This record gives sequence, structure tokens and C-alpha cells, in this order.
Amino acid sequence: MGGAVFATEKKAYPGKLTFSVFKACIVASMGGLIFGYDIGISGGVTSMDSFLLRFFPSVFHQKNLDQSNNEYCQYDSQILTTFTSSLYIAALLSSLVASAMTRKFGRRNSMLFGGALFFIGALLNGFAQAIWMLILGRMLLGFGVGFCNQSVPLYLSEMAPYKHRGSLNVMFQMSITIGILIANVLNYFFAKLGGLGWRLSLGGAMVPALIITVGSFFLPDTPNSMIDRGDHEGARASLEKIRGIQAVDEEFDDLVTASLESKLVEHPWKNLLQRKYRPQLIMSIMIPFFQQLTGINVIMFYAPVLFNSIGFESDASLMSAVITGLVNVLATVVSIYGVDRWGRRALFLEGGFQMLICQIVVAIAIGAKFGTNGNPGVLPIWYAVVVVVFICIYVAGFAWSWGPLGWLVPSEIFPLEVRSAAQSVTVAVNMLFTFVVAQIFLTMLCHLKFGLFIFFAVFVVAMTIFVKFLLPETKGIPIEEMTRVWKAHWFWSRFVDQDEVDNPIQIPKSPYFVDTII
Ligand code: BGC
Repeated sequence: MGGAVFATEKKAYPGKLTFSVFKACIVASMGGLIFGYDIGISGGVTSMDSFLLRFFPSVFHQKNLDQSNNEYCQYDSQILTTFTSSLYIAALLSSLVASAMTRKFGRRNSMLFGGALFFIGALLNGFAQAIWMLILGRMLLGFGVGFCNQSVPLYLSEMAPYKHRGSLNVMFQMSITIGILIANVLNYFFAKLGGLGWRLSLGGAMVPALIITVGSFFLPDTPNSMIDRGDHEGARASLEKIRGIQAVDEEFDDLVTASLESKLVEHPWKNLLQRKYRPQLIMSIMIPFFQQLTGINVIMFYAPVLFNSIGFESDASLMSAVITGLVNVLATVVSIYGVDRWGRRALFLEGGFQMLICQIVVAIAIGAKFGTNGNPGVLPIWYAVVVVVFICIYVAGFAWSWGPLGWLVPSEIFPLEVRSAAQSVTVAVNMLFTFVVAQIFLTMLCHLKFGLFIFFAVFVVAMTIFVKFLLPETKGIPIEEMTRVWKAHWFWSRFVDQDEVDNPIQIPKSPYFVDTII
């Protein structure tokens, strides 16, 4: 996801935004959509009574029948969280092998494979008769996420004309947020259908899965990938078609050179452990870690459950999830606009501050209403409005800072020689902590109560301090000059070799180098 690919030098190859590129983008963006759909769908389904009664009767009873029970704990069930979180552990595992597979069999085939896994997963979920079908289905979806998140961003950036790549990268994040919103909207309507509702919600993932599977069957592979696998003639023909012109010599030659260059990088993993790459190694771990510790997925996964737990009716809970989903999409647009104008640090710092304020307000509001025994009584309307408004402001803060930048910044700070390894670390750490948050949230809500928001707020303070003092600004800095940024930094400069700055690594660079080694 957001496996961004960035240019290493400024070149303007001729070519147009052709219909082939457009088609490719539509199909490939289904990869982001389906990921978002899976993020957004489970929370709503988990709050549907018909679903709980069928698979998790004890949670159903805890929630509906046992009036003495603490509201904070009504959804506390490890097997219920496993339903949500199993997807991410599967995605983590498959992202580790997907990179080799994408290289060996091509981007298109990886998407096809990922799409097929999605399809079977959604089918199993939609027709589930037992918990094992639910969990196995979610795991297949997770494997699909691993393959698609590896291959789709690559596919998109290799098909797109060179100058459109940056925006395409953020578009992938955008399609994730749209997927989350669609899931929230469908949950809202399907919840009214009783026993059929959750089946339609879970099975609905079959639609984008089918588009990506059938679609990629008819799509060509990228020229980069064909060259890498020795098919130079096919690659050239495909490049001419994609660009809509015959004059593709310069770009084609660069692709061939890039393929050769990528083979020079033999030990990206070993390289990454060298002292001089310590700043990058630390960023590749800390940025995805912090992104997840903002607590965003508490909202994305469990908004309906959370709203329900803090006293909203079922319908209002699902509607509130639709509202937060919409805010998420709209605020991502702000980021597309601002990231190259205001810079990364400004967005990170502002977003962090905004999230912090909101977390404190929500914690106070919930704490004041529920106290620690979790008994709300009747909820006044002002309370509902305050909670929803502040959660929306929090989501907006995330969506224009840590959301897209959590993917963008790592991908632009890695020098070529460690990029493949560092990118895998970023994806793996992200999936790991997505899993952890998904798995422990409901228990944390039960035990920490409104303090849960304070828990994440503490991390938001830590990450904002981290950005303030340790993250250099990378706006408008060409990738090949990135080493200077670290050298000029008060802390990181001690790790960077001055010689490296004056004489950067001598691998000849072409714009496609990066693409072929991820
Ligand atoms: C994060 C996801 C999150 C999504 C919300 C992404 O950048 O990686 O974990 O659910 O943003 O829009």
C-alpha cells in the first residue's frame, strides 16, 4: 500500500495519458478499494445483532440481555477481534513473499492472484456457516491484500506517464478511503435487512474482487516487468501502446538500463543494517508504528462498535461511521493539495496537534458521561454531537497528515540501494501494528475505558515530538539528494558519512530503477 515509487531524476518522456493507462488505473485502483472495504466492513458487521447471534451468541447476550453489564465491555471477546485482525496477520505474512512473486511472475499476475484470493475470501465470508469460514475467509482476504498492495502501486506507477506518478501514489491512498466509505454506507443500509445484511456486507467484497481478477486477466503486464523477465520485444510493443506513440526509444532504453541496474543491488537487507542507514532504518520502523498508534483504526474498524458502546443506538452508530468515512475521504483531498505546498512537517505537526486536542475532548466527554463503571443512563443529544464532531475533526487531522504521509515519507527517504528492504519493513511494521491494534482494542476499551483515548493521545504527543526534532523536511528534495538532508540534521548527521554526501553511490540512476527493485 502506498508502496510509492518515485523518480530519481527529472525527465520528460513523450507520451499521453492513453485509454490503456486509464483502463489499467481503474482496474488497479480496485486493489485500494478492496483493502479499504475490508478495513471498513468488519466493524459494522460486528455490531449487527443477527451476525452476533449467529456466530458470537455470548457477545450478543452480553450486549443485549445483561443490563447490569458494563457498556465498555460488551464487545470484549478475543474471537470476535480475531475476525477483524486475522486479515492483517495474513497480509503481513503475504507481504513478505509478495515482493519475490511480483518480480518473478510479473505485476499483472500478482494482481490476478490477489484478486482471486479476494474473491474466494469474500465468497467464504458471504456464505459462512461457521466461525472457521469467517476467519479463513478473512485470512484469504488478507493474503489478497498482501499481494495487491505489493503489486498495484507498482503496476500503477509503471503504467502511468512519468510525470503523473506522485499524484497516482496518493490516489491509491484515496481509493482506500473511498473503499472504507463504501463499506460504511453499505453497512448502514444492509443492517436493516436482518440476517441477510451481514452476508451482503461481507459478500459485497466480491464485486471489486471480480473486477480486479477479470480485469487484470485482460490487462497487459507493465513494460518494466516484461523486460525484467526477458521479453524485450513484447515490452516495447506494450510501451508504444500504453504511451500512444511510436517514439518511445529513450524511455525504453532507460527501462532496460534500470533492469540491469536493479540487479546490481545484491544485498538490500544487509545494506539496511549498516550504520550509515540508521536514520532510514529507524524511520522505516517508527513511521508505520506511529501511524497505527494514532489509534485511527479504532475508528476505522470499530466506529460502529465504539459509538454503540458509548451509548448510541445501532442505526446512529452506523450513520456516525458513514460520517467519519466521508470526512476521511474529503480530508485526504486536502493532503493531495497541501503536501507539496505546505510540506510534510507542517502537516504532521498540525495533524498531531489536532488529533491530540480531539482525543482529550472525547476522553473527557465519555469519561464524564460514563465514569468508570460504564453506565450511561440516557444520553443527551449535545453529548452525541460533541463526540461525533470531535471524532470527525480527529479523523480529518489523521487523513491529511499521518494517513498519506505515513506511506509517502518512508518511500521518499530511502536511497536506492536499500529501498526494497526498507519498503518491506515499512509495510510489514504497518500490518503488524494494524493487527495489534485490531486485536487488543476491544479489551483495552473494556479495561482502560475512556482512558483508551488518553493511551493513544500519549503516543500522539510522542510522535509529534519525534517529528519536531527528528524528521527532516523532504518536500521538493530530489531523491538523489536526500542524503544531504540527513547530513544537515542536528542528530542524524553523526550517522551519515560525509564522503557519501559528496560522492553519492555510483550506481547509474534512471527513473525506473526504483520501480524494478521494490
Ligand atoms: C492506514 C490504514 C488506515 C487508513 C485510513 C491508511 O493510511 O495505513 O491503517 O485504516 O489509512 O484511511
